[in-house]
Amino acid sequence: MCSQMGIFPWLPLLLYFICLITIFLVGYIPHEDHIKCSSGNTNCTISNVYRSFPDRSICRAAEVAYPTTEEELLSIVANATFLQKKMRIATSLSNSIPKLMCPDGEYGLIISTKYLNRRLGLDKSAMTITVETGMTLRQLINESAMAGLALPYAPYWWGVTIGGILGTGAHGSTLWDLGPAVHDYVIELRIVTPAGPDEGYANVRTLKIGDPELDAARVSLGVLGVISQVTLQLQPLFKRSIAFLEKDDSDLGAQISTFGNQHEFADFTWFPSQKKVLYRIDDRVPYNTTGNGVFDFFGLSPVSSFLTAVSRTIEEIQEYTGHAVGKCITGSLGRYILKKAGYGLTNDGTSFKGYPVVGYHNNLQSSGTCLDGLWTACAWDQRFKGLYFFQNGISISLYKAKDFIQDVQKLVALQPKALCGVDIYNGILIRYITASSAYLGKQEDSVEFDITYYRSKDPMAPRLHEDIFEEIEQMAVFKYGGLPHWGKNRHLTFIGAINKYENAGEFLKVKQSYDPLGLFSSEWTDKVLGLKDGITVLKEGCASEGLCICSQDIHCAPKKGYFCRPGKVYKNARVCTQLTS
Ligand SMILES: *[C@@H]1O[C@H](CO)[C@@H](O)[C@H](O)[C@H]1NC(C)=O
Ligand SMILES: *[C@@H]1O[C@H](CO)[C@@H](O)[C@H](O)[C@H]1NC(C)=O
Ligand SMILES: *[C@@H]1O[C@H](CO)[C@@H](O)[C@H](O)[C@H]1NC(C)=O
Ligand SMILES: *[C@@H]1O[C@H](CO)[C@@H](O)[C@H](O)[C@H]1NC(C)=O
Repeated sequence: MCSQMGIFPWLPLLLYFICLITIFLVGYIPHEDHIKCSSGNTNCTISNVYRSFPDRSICRAAEVAYPTTEEELLSIVANATFLQKKMRIATSLSNSIPKLMCPDGEYGLIISTKYLNRRLGLDKSAMTITVETGMTLRQLINESAMAGLALPYAPYWWGVTIGGILGTGAHGSTLWDLGPAVHDYVIELRIVTPAGPDEGYANVRTLKIGDPELDAARVSLGVLGVISQVTLQLQPLFKRSIAFLEKDDSDLGAQISTFGNQHEFADFTWFPSQKKVLYRIDDRVPYNTTGNGVFDFFGLSPVSSFLTAVSRTIEEIQEYTGHAVGKCITGSLGRYILKKAGYGLTNDGTSFKGYPVVGYHNNLQSSGTCLDGLWTACAWDQRFKGLYFFQNGISISLYKAKDFIQDVQKLVALQPKALCGVDIYNGILIRYITASSAYLGKQEDSVEFDITYYRSKDPMAPRLHEDIFEEIEQMAVFKYGGLPHWGKNRHLTFIGAINKYENAGEFLKVKQSYDPLGLFSSEWTDKVLGLKDGITVLKEGCASEGLCICSQDIHCAPKKGYFCRPGKVYKNARVCTQLTS
């Protein structure tokens, strides 16, 4: 694992040396539990994997319950409903960035799906699998492959659960078939919802394909109740052939509309400041094609915690000294190393010899070996000085994507080094996603832009070129009507988001009928669903943190030279711009 360098570049020799030291110093690093209780299962705090919500608040709950069967889950929901306790659902992995897993107030109950992780059924001839909600994607891929079956499209990070995927609408990349969203392959699910006294305060509902309520439950933010079981439509396991091709980004806008039709698993990784884009040429091939490739993506593979700390420190120094050029150098070095190493692809599971890499779908579709680190961790592990960042995931309608890309390119022309900051985080990932029947799923065929960038540990500290990042973010959601990914993003991207969903009203009707008291709702879910005001908060420094769009200088950092100004390309944007006198 130490031969792999994770997301960050470093001199190989130094790396080797540091790895040796770290192995001795750190030892085994177990997986972190994100729910911590002071006595037994009561008086708890919960966080996400980044140990930080967008508003940096702490989340408390009176109690956490760990059901191991649907029956226990039913009894837990019944008891809490009887007591009118607020409930929210947490997964074992807690990947969501917004505060989705947090019940309101101090008396709430967290229902963890940690022990609901079994396979309940598998029908080889119908090609379906039924699993409990807490099963991880990794396990799901494995279980399916063992039976010669495959979930055709999935998130690239396997450290998520099926319940979490459905809750937030997580997806892979394709324009083909039913699209890349896992929720569109659900043919049946069971959900435990609150009920009245005559039904014992909770019941289990079975939703099947063709049932309009299934379209509410496919993407539900966990506000309808707790999904207990999910049945997915699979396909026969197949082989794929992957090649990455690096090109100039000048015609990226034009390519976006056609590339996704040419290749089933197409995506792009864009490095705007370096004017480069990586095309993923990725298709099914006949089953007898030779090859046993594996994709263990570098960004999700184990890294030495010491190395991550060094990288983070370098980035902090670059930020502090305003050294954008330094970021461009680290960024291009990183890109060079990744390229040489095939991004984590291997032709046979051990070494990369060249493209194309052919292999079984289950060995190529997702990865996340950093979760098994024996002496290493995931790069964002906050128990060490891991990466700490903002992440936008915004989908823009396919026919508007070209203009959006060209606007970003105009910004790069004005500020050539501004976006070197994303190179350090593997560039901007662009994935295809299709319109869904899910009420809170995508409305049109779109491309999702995942942009990850530096966040300061100090909420009052402005960031290098934050105006450019803020302008891109506001452009994406307001000028181009983009939809924020429910499990990512900063607060401002959710302003008015619910109004972009044609069937939001239908969703709310189902919510009202399943959980009339809103026991599964929280302040955050009420805000994003448009039931409560206050997605954004106006206070000192709020714009830097993404908690507001600036309207006054004080929302930026005027003492440090950052003032609220219009955007450079999208004039309606209001961004924190560094003014040098
Ligand atoms: C709950 O936990 C907090 C620390 O997280 C502690 O300060 C407090 O005393 C605890 N309360 C009870 C009632 O145990
Ligand atoms: C629910 O309440 C009943 C009666 O108070 C109790 O017997 C049962 O153990 C409770 N169930 C759970 C899962 O807490
Ligand atoms: C599934 O996981 C088991 C246990 O880790 C492993 O032995 C097996 O090779 C995996 N199967 C596939 C098809 O990935
Ligand atoms: C794969 O199978 C097809 C027919 O099923 C055959 O025509 C082809 O030659 C085979 N290819 C290889 C590489 O064995």
